[in-house]
Amino acid sequence: MPTLDLGVLVSGTGTNLGAILQAIDEGRLDARVRLVVSNKPGVKALDRAAAHGVPSVVIPHKDHATREAFDAAVVAALQSAGASTVVLAGFMRVVTPVLLDAFADRVINVHPALLPAFPGVDAQAQALTYGVRTTGCTVHFVDAGVDTGPIVAQAAVPVLEGDDRDALAARILVEEHALLVTALSWVAAGRVSVVRAAGGRPRVHVRSDP
Ligand code: GRF
Repeated sequence: MPTLDLGVLVSGTGTNLGAILQAIDEGRLDARVRLVVSNKPGVKALDRAAAHGVPSVVIPHKDHATREAFDAAVVAALQSAGASTVVLAGFMRVVTPVLLDAFADRVINVHPALLPAFPGVDAQAQALTYGVRTTGCTVHFVDAGVDTGPIVAQAAVPVLEGDDRDALAARILVEEHALLVTALSWVAAGRVSVVRAAGGRPRVHVRSDP
């Protein structure tokens, strides 16, 4: 399989980007990050890209009149950089069909909950408020909804007595990093496909390692 050409979209600390870059450096992920795109300037994710010699660009969403215009600028940057798979790594914008159509079944997100539980923002706080005993994280293909796309992989994380939001978020984040690298390694190996049965919800098939 050819090495996976990734475009990584970020908005903040970029720890998921860091996990990808570390896995590549350590030979655990057959990929290269062609471009990091941030919708915000000056975020730590950009420092991580620079530290690994990965090109990055800031495309402020505020510079564009619509979500679609913003996505078109992101798509142009990703395509000119040679990215074929897009990872939303701590990216805090909802993407539109402009991006999804340009990278059909090739946009991957990591969410800090066991979807379909707790979609949207601050899933960690949602889990604590609800009082679940187990939460976790999900890697999924992105569709036009919010955190509703077909699921590639999930990992369970216990909620412990005395957990506050930050303690739980930190425990989940460790699992996010591992799960994202695992899921991307399956994509890189060509083992992942999306199956659309007539009228049913799209499902991910992960072929067993030959
Ligand atoms: C993570 O919890 C991620 O799941 C969510 O944003 C948080 C920060 O991600 N989408 P990162 O450290 O910027 O990769």
